[in-house]
Amino acid sequence: MSQRQLFVTTALPYANGNFHIGHIMEYIQADIWVRFQRMQGHKVDFVGADDTHGAPIMIAAEKAGITPQQFVAGIAAGRKPYLDGFHIQFDNWHSTDAPENHALAQQIYRDLRDIPESQGGSLIERRTIDQFFDPEKNMFLPDRFIKGECPKCHAHDQYGDNCEVCGAVYAPTDLINPFSALSGAKPELKSSEHFFFKLSDPRCVAFLEKWTQDGKLQPEVANKVKEWFSVRTNPDGTTSEGLGDWDISRDAPYFGIEIPDAPGKYFYVWLDAPVGYLASLKNLLDQRGENYDAYMANPALEQYHFIGKDIVTFHTLFWPAMLHFSGRKTPNNVFVHGFLTVNNGEKMSKSRGTGLDPLKYLSLGMNPEWLRYYLATKLNNKNEDVDFNAEDFMLRVNSDLIGKFVNIASRAAGFLTKRFEGKLTQSFGEQGTALLSDIHAAKDSIAQAYDAREYGKATREIMLLADKVNAYVDQHKPWDLAKDVANNEALHQVCSLLINAFAELSRYLAPVLPSLAHAVEAFTGTAMQNWNATGNVAHIQPYQHLMQRVTPEQLEALFEPPALVEQRVAPCGEPIAPTISIDDFAKVDLRIAEIVHCEAVEGSTKLLRLTLDVGEGTDPQGRPITRNVFSGVASMYKPEDLQGKLTVMVANLAPRKMKFGVSEGMVLAASHADEKAEPGIYVLHPWPGAKPGMRIH
Ligand code: MSP
Ligand code: ZN
Repeated sequence: MSQRQLFVTTALPYANGNFHIGHIMEYIQADIWVRFQRMQGHKVDFVGADDTHGAPIMIAAEKAGITPQQFVAGIAAGRKPYLDGFHIQFDNWHSTDAPENHALAQQIYRDLRDIPESQGGSLIERRTIDQFFDPEKNMFLPDRFIKGECPKCHAHDQYGDNCEVCGAVYAPTDLINPFSALSGAKPELKSSEHFFFKLSDPRCVAFLEKWTQDGKLQPEVANKVKEWFSVRTNPDGTTSEGLGDWDISRDAPYFGIEIPDAPGKYFYVWLDAPVGYLASLKNLLDQRGENYDAYMANPALEQYHFIGKDIVTFHTLFWPAMLHFSGRKTPNNVFVHGFLTVNNGEKMSKSRGTGLDPLKYLSLGMNPEWLRYYLATKLNNKNEDVDFNAEDFMLRVNSDLIGKFVNIASRAAGFLTKRFEGKLTQSFGEQGTALLSDIHAAKDSIAQAYDAREYGKATREIMLLADKVNAYVDQHKPWDLAKDVANNEALHQVCSLLINAFAELSRYLAPVLPSLAHAVEAFTGTAMQNWNATGNVAHIQPYQHLMQRVTPEQLEALFEPPALVEQRVAPCGEPIAPTISIDDFAKVDLRIAEIVHCEAVEGSTKLLRLTLDVGEGTDPQGRPITRNVFSGVASMYKPEDLQGKLTVMVANLAPRKMKFGVSEGMVLAASHADEKAEPGIYVLHPWPGAKPGMRIH
């Protein structure tokens, strides 16, 4: 087959929090496919980015006392350990707030707005709508930030879009006694001009009916989408005929991209989010010195998006329509997966982060390729939920992956190294040769399964081959052969066959287990990057463990809820506080501070007066801005011990008036909860390299 040129993305995660295991599943699904396509010799550009815009992120940043840009930069800085940790190999990771995205989103909008009359005219329309406005915050309120009494069941404290008690769907204006979740103020109805993308235009309807129903989409996805062409649910719960126009604007203040020629108006986050796919690609091509327009103009270019089932509308209606009517290439397909649940369908909570914490998984020393393999065995090309089940996980990894597959190598390698200097014979006997050709014969069918995202089928086929190999081992019993040197040749044949079989199976598993495949490449000298590589193993290196088993202790630790830790241990007299979210933590602004001056406080034996520089620059007169902080550490330190040192302070603590003056923050120090049980208070001191003003994350 000729070389294909593929442009592949996953959905762009909201930059309002760290990755959860659902994100990781999506990335693993896409990464396996990308690695497989590369092994086929195809050229793939695989990109991701943070989805940074929107009101929730703006509000979270405001609460944290930082700019939205700082907020999303903090999230972006935390992405790498997850991606590297699970061997997810994006070629680029970008941001929807990057200049490329501003430019591309604005250009796509202009192209939609300026469609000439000869081609049916503009697809952008302005309309005035009434919306709730928070008079204290001076902003229009997104539905999620309006609360009140459910108009149906009268439950209190319900969101503006639907009731969590009775499930009713309604418009925010239907709420009884509505209030702003931001300020508590009673919202006022205020009219404002909004921009709409005319999805109901017959041109759009005709195009989308074809685009979504021409057989490319997964059947269950196409069927769902088909319903939207006949009926839709309005915000107030009523239904209407066919596709509705899409409100693509939001009023300032909003963290987003400005709409051209419309001061104070911003694109709704979902308009610029998918444009981020293109922005990340463009950024990648720029880094390589390649031309974006030329790249996109290649008629052979194929574009694919891996997404979850919750964002199908955006990817099968709005996104293809935006691209098509702005004169751009539309995706070749959108691959929809279901949701990951953990331990029998217990719903994963985005905010509470229950379930399976990916970084905890890694920090327990659990092998990322166990998870990749396990998820591969469960994934198919349908929009179906996938459950992570701890017992099932252990069984598949220990019995199948290690017991059936990895053990093939460990059983044969020792004999080859000890008895044959690591050299392999090229004759495997009739039965061995037949077995090897069985393995070769499965290559195309396994390839088809990967290509069709039927990873469960691919891994099942591979494990069936491993079963055959193990049956061969049991029949020929190398450990028995090894007892008598008269059997040397037979032993050599059997073990050589096993290593060759193992190398082949490793190549079949390479998209799922890239790091193991890499180790097998070093061990056997066979290329693992090329699906169609041929040639037998001639020589092996001494065997080193390729993979350990999962232990029940690891799984227990992985799922041990933080609450149990709380009950069991009370370190230093104080139990660990209840879990907080990253957003909660972000509210505390911890900074490196230089103790530029320190003195005793007259009249106090406990306190020292510290003058701190937290990198706030200089005042209009050019004097450095410093903080005055009192700290109860006089029993431990003399002023000269601390002066000139760096420490950590809470920089956004409300100033507090004390007997000796105003304290403008707090220095961090450690102590036992019970001073009498263990006296001593220890000021925190950062490692070298930290500078005044740096934030602690
Ligand atoms: N920011 C949007 C996507 C914009 S794409 C231009 C978004 N972000 S998200 O962080 O909420 O979700 C990102 C991806 O993760 C989506 O494809 C979503 O379906 C997927 N998942 C979120 N929770 C999931 C599970 N529990 N399981 C599997 N995937 C899940 O939506
Ligand atoms: Zn209700």
